[in-house]
Amino acid sequence: MHPQPAIHELLSTRWSPVAFSPEPIDDATLAALFEAARWAPSCFNAQPWRFVIGRHGTEAHARILSTLTPGNSVWAANAYILVISVAHEVFSHNGKANRWAGHDVGMASMSLAVEATARGLFVHFMGGFDAAKAVELLGLPEHHTPVAAFAIGHRGDPNALPPEVAAKEAKARTRKALAEVMVEGAFGQPGG
Ligand SMILES: Cc1cc2nc3c(=O)[nH]c(=O)nc-3n(C[C@H](O)[C@H](O)[C@H](O)COP(=O)(O)O)c2cc1C
Repeated sequence: MHPQPAIHELLSTRWSPVAFSPEPIDDATLAALFEAARWAPSCFNAQPWRFVIGRHGTEAHARILSTLTPGNSVWAANAYILVISVAHEVFSHNGKANRWAGHDVGMASMSLAVEATARGLFVHFMGGFDAAKAVELLGLPEHHTPVAAFAIGHRGDPNALPPEVAAKEAKARTRKALAEVMVEGAFGQPGG
């Protein structure tokens, strides 16, 4: 196996900045990002993803911002779009629990991130938010659960952030070795 196979540049160039600019994203581009999410695969084609979004300068943006941990809100405040992704946890066709809902919300979210990358935009996902507060503030219907928060926007100036926040961008991006995550056969035995 090759040590570091080349991958598509849309995947290799995506990363999660903290320096965002509130420069607007036009409506057509914004719609295209969520269109990319809409075409993600999902279990039973249930499409359990929902995205509550707020644009910079609106109450909706402030509401989502208020759910973020201080470590996230300090930089995410500048992003033009803030999002809470939501999973519909029950299949509409039979009322049973959809245990793949979180998986599929993640798939749709990554599609959005790839489309954003292709358009020169940036997406930074966040687990650091108050899910209970999001339920309360965003009017989520029954069986709808917040999954993640994320910021979408144009790149901003890291020097406008507190130095310890901007420093996060300077950290080397690392990953586990391929051999650790690609298990051929079964765990604990040679491949085949
Ligand atoms: C579900 C999820 C939750 C995350 N939570 C946070 C967070 O709360 N704050 C933060 O700064 N980054 C968060 N991240 C970003 C990750 O730290 C980042 O994706 C990872 O370090 C890899 O870096 P990269 O996206 O630049 O490749 C989160 C990412 C995901 C997918």
